[in-house]
Amino acid sequence: MSEENLPAVPPTPHKRRKRYSGKNPRRFDEKYKEHGHDPETIAKVIASGKTPVGTHRPIMVAEILNVLAPQPGEIAVDCTLGYGGHTQEILPKLLPGGKLLGLDADPIELPKTEARLRAAGFDESVFTAHRSNFAGLPQVLATQNISGADVILADLGVSSMQIDDPARGFSVKLDGPLDMRMNPQRGQPASALLQKTSPAALVEMLVDFSDEPNAATLSPVLAGKHFASTLALATTIRAALPRLGQDAADLAVRRVFQALRIAVNDEFSALDTFLRQLPASLNPGGRVAILTFHSGEDRRVKKSFAAHFSAGLYSEISDEVIRPTAAEQHSNSRSAPAKLRWARRAR
Ligand SMILES: C[S@@+](CC[C@H](N)C(=O)[O-])C[C@H]1O[C@@H](n2cnc3c(N)ncnc32)[C@H](O)[C@@H]1O
Repeated sequence: MSEENLPAVPPTPHKRRKRYSGKNPRRFDEKYKEHGHDPETIAKVIASGKTPVGTHRPIMVAEILNVLAPQPGEIAVDCTLGYGGHTQEILPKLLPGGKLLGLDADPIELPKTEARLRAAGFDESVFTAHRSNFAGLPQVLATQNISGADVILADLGVSSMQIDDPARGFSVKLDGPLDMRMNPQRGQPASALLQKTSPAALVEMLVDFSDEPNAATLSPVLAGKHFASTLALATTIRAALPRLGQDAADLAVRRVFQALRIAVNDEFSALDTFLRQLPASLNPGGRVAILTFHSGEDRRVKKSFAAHFSAGLYSEISDEVIRPTAAEQHSNSRSAPAKLRWARRAR
């Protein structure tokens, strides 16, 4: 057999070196191992000051229960039901005889929360879930034949479940479609809004909704452009601010995302409508508590409470904003920016 006729030795398959995927995994399942609901992993996540994905840890529970003082037989409304964390603390205090209405704009998380609360033993006679913007609170009360609530809570912004789900497009860290709608069945995603916005309008949006100091630099780079994904937008923001260090650039990304989220969900209009209608939605002596997470929200709540107090509609309002304890801020980093204000309806 000549060498030419020798059977060809099959080449050793070339083994690709496993690519280093970085210290911080980007894939949802790699990053969030607790998604498998392993109790030990979940406990470890909580101990590290983080929130297990797919859940939400209620903020300032003791302070909220203290100012709302829910009593047996009272009617309460949780205007931002979320994971139901606050509701689960308030509801038992309304029993026997009381009832809680839970509102949320989010049609994806609301049925899950309703199912969890039913499984926890709260039936239709004590808890009802309503897919509604809180700007529509008077209509929800009317459909339930309720003339006013004794206790109202609003915990503004987005839930951890929404932030941690890359498909919702709220995350600055995980790649997903640039959406950001609390109700994805209504309105337009952030990508469409950004594409339609002029640079001048974007400057205004970034300043009004997130006090963005780099608004003038960022607006011509972002306005009118199509960004299909969250990370594409984040990368462009960082590239447009090359002189900023990493922490400052991260903050700029967060502020742009916040401004877009507020615009996409028309959050300030909803909050203004809600605040205007609040005294009429409360029974005489009824209490409201509102948790805010940035200055644009807190300014509105403060101003509205003061105006209704001057008009005699509220008999008492919080003098000072109440902040989470250092221990809570340490154990739940998402609580750090929270500010709580409360008011009591005049009798
Ligand atoms: C911070 S989370 C509430 C978490 C909840 N307190 C808990 O302990 O689980 C805010 C929730 O409010 C909802 N939300 C935000 N703006 C809303 C609006 N205008 N009307 C109704 N729900 C709204 C969001 O969809 C989200 O589920």
